[in-house]
Amino acid sequence: MLFSQCLLALLAGGVLQALSVYARVRKEGRVCIVVPEGRGRDDSSSIISAFAQCNRDASVVFLNDTYHVERVISTHGLRNVTVDIKGTLLWGTNTTYWINNSLPLGYLNMSVAWDFGGDNIFWTGHGYGTFDGNGQIWYDLANGASNMPGRPINLVIRNSTNFTMQGMRFVQSQFWTMAVHTAENLLLEGITIHSVSNSSAPTQNTDGIDTFYTNNITLRNWDVTCGDDAVAPKANSSNLLVQDSHFHDTIGVAIGSIGQYPGVYEFIENVTAERIICDGCVHAGYVKTWTGVEKGVPPNGGGGGIGFLRNIVFRDYNIANITDGVAQISQCTSYNGQTGYCDTSTFQISNVTWTNFSGTVANNLLASLQCSGAAPCTDIVIEGVDGLVFNSTSTEPEVECSHVTVGPGSVACNGNVTTAA
Ligand SMILES: *[C@@H]1O[C@H](CO)[C@@H](O)[C@H](O)[C@H]1NC(C)=O
Ligand SMILES: *[C@@H]1O[C@H](CO)[C@@H](O)[C@H](O)[C@H]1NC(C)=O
Ligand SMILES: *[C@@H]1O[C@H](CO)[C@@H](O)[C@H](O)[C@H]1NC(C)=O
Ligand SMILES: *[C@@H]1O[C@H](CO)[C@@H](O)[C@H](O)[C@H]1NC(C)=O
Ligand SMILES: *[C@@H]1O[C@H](CO)[C@@H](O)[C@H](O)[C@H]1NC(C)=O
Ligand SMILES: *[C@@H]1O[C@H](CO)[C@@H](O)[C@H](O)[C@H]1NC(C)=O
Ligand SMILES: *[C@@H]1O[C@H](CO)[C@@H](O)[C@H](O)[C@H]1NC(C)=O
Ligand SMILES: *[C@@H]1O[C@H](CO)[C@@H](O)[C@H](O)[C@H]1NC(C)=O
Ligand SMILES: *[C@@H]1O[C@H](CO)[C@@H](O)[C@H](O)[C@H]1NC(C)=O
Ligand SMILES: *[C@@H]1O[C@H](CO)[C@@H](O)[C@H](O)[C@H]1NC(C)=O
Ligand SMILES: *[C@@H]1O[C@H](CO)[C@@H](O)[C@H](O)[C@H]1NC(C)=O
Ligand SMILES: *[C@@H]1O[C@H](CO)[C@@H](O)[C@H](O)[C@H]1NC(C)=O
Repeated sequence: MLFSQCLLALLAGGVLQALSVYARVRKEGRVCIVVPEGRGRDDSSSIISAFAQCNRDASVVFLNDTYHVERVISTHGLRNVTVDIKGTLLWGTNTTYWINNSLPLGYLNMSVAWDFGGDNIFWTGHGYGTFDGNGQIWYDLANGASNMPGRPINLVIRNSTNFTMQGMRFVQSQFWTMAVHTAENLLLEGITIHSVSNSSAPTQNTDGIDTFYTNNITLRNWDVTCGDDAVAPKANSSNLLVQDSHFHDTIGVAIGSIGQYPGVYEFIENVTAERIICDGCVHAGYVKTWTGVEKGVPPNGGGGGIGFLRNIVFRDYNIANITDGVAQISQCTSYNGQTGYCDTSTFQISNVTWTNFSGTVANNLLASLQCSGAAPCTDIVIEGVDGLVFNSTSTEPEVECSHVTVGPGSVACNGNVTTAA
């Protein structure tokens, strides 16, 4: 027999769980090949079974075919596993199921479709392996409402060390394409993300990747079209390097938002984004913290968090048509229509540099730097911007500042950011 149809029994955390479904996995030595059901039937239990059978010193292979994923997947405790994706995983559109069953991210009340964890993982998509989130149904359902409960992040990489992913495509992600939670030593390279709405509903919250409790992550050679943040390190992210990437129609590289949980101490330290092409981005690089006053609860409310954010560099960018400030800092983040309290955050921002930019800006705004009166920003530097072409040649580019001390070599502030007090 080419493949065995076995009643799936998987050991999860010492608990024997028997699922009343058949899984199709062809096991050849240390290789588990997931055999697609075909005819649109759900492949999720076969996928779970493959990772249960090939969880150590082994490979899990997806053929050049379409796999349907109708259920959440949790695969953990893997060790020295190669994930080899030659086909497409297409996520199901039963939003009632996903809203009720998506797995918790463990932060911001957000949830995920596939929760993946392991050490010494090599994951390859060969440049064509694809995750298709079937996101249009989510864009239409959310219809511009922010952070809809249960709308799943496609993939979270969790509790992982030494993880490499290469050559994957992610299209029409349901929500953020990826999150990383509690992980270190990751290299994700040659990643394409393309989430675009074909209706009047926007692709809101379709970030490329967000990180939490992570250290030493490199993102190299990414091509992202997503309508929201391309990359967004959040709570307790350190040593993140973003290189040689092309972002189209994104908000840009976002540091944060952070400071959403009142009284909770968090930080972001050592982030460099370099050699970036940004077409039609809102900002090239931006920094955002919640206000110092809690208004509502996460995911769409919060504030009053404490901590620091420092040693951030955005350099060597080629930009086209940036629409709302090449550089931006805002300590005024609030959703749910809340405004004001922009001078209340005590979250300390320092040592943020934007350097060596060329290309075009859609208007005359070089920078909008709004720091909190309760914790002014220090050592903020904008330099090497002579290669930028602004819309107006008759006036000086605007560098709006509030409660900012610029560091040596920076262009000077020449105006103030106006915010609702
Ligand atoms: C990792 O697993 C592969 C089989 O996929 C095996 O050949 C190799 O020896 C393993 N490496 C280690 C360090 O155990
Ligand atoms: C995958 O299969 C299709 C036909 O089913 C073929 O056209 C395509 O070239 C294959 N892709 C790869 C990368 O092998
Ligand atoms: C994280 O992974 C390690 C190694 O696989 C495992 O021993 C540990 O229990 C996991 N921790 C959590 C919180 O899941
Ligand atoms: C969608 O999922 C819900 C909840 O799991 C289930 O009750 C319903 O039958 C599913 N709908 C379809 C069309 O499969
Ligand atoms: C959601 O899940 C709960 C408990 O698992 C169940 O009682 C409820 O009927 C489900 N709702 C939908 C819409 O599937
Ligand atoms: C990760 O890789 C480093 C360097 O190769 C190694 O020292 C460490 O033991 C690895 N971690 C795990 C959990 O395998
Ligand atoms: C950071 O992670 C990379 C793998 O992406 C690894 O090669 C490198 O040794 C790690 N650096 C440190 C300081 O652990
Ligand atoms: C950030 O980088 C500095 C200077 O390279 C280093 O001293 C510090 O330990 C790094 N921070 C973290 C959290 O790794
Ligand atoms: C500012 O950040 C840069 C980049 O991480 C780092 O090299 C530099 O040492 C930092 N400066 C201070 C004063 O910490
Ligand atoms: C710049 O972006 C604006 C807003 O998205 C758009 O209307 C305009 O056509 C773009 N201009 C160029 C030259 O691409
Ligand atoms: C410059 O601004 C004008 C007026 O807002 C706008 O019509 C035009 O498209 C802008 N040019 C570019 C290159 O963005
Ligand atoms: C307002 O902008 C000017 C530069 O035009 C700057 O000197 C001043 O410090 C700014 N005010 C605040 C509150 O930052």
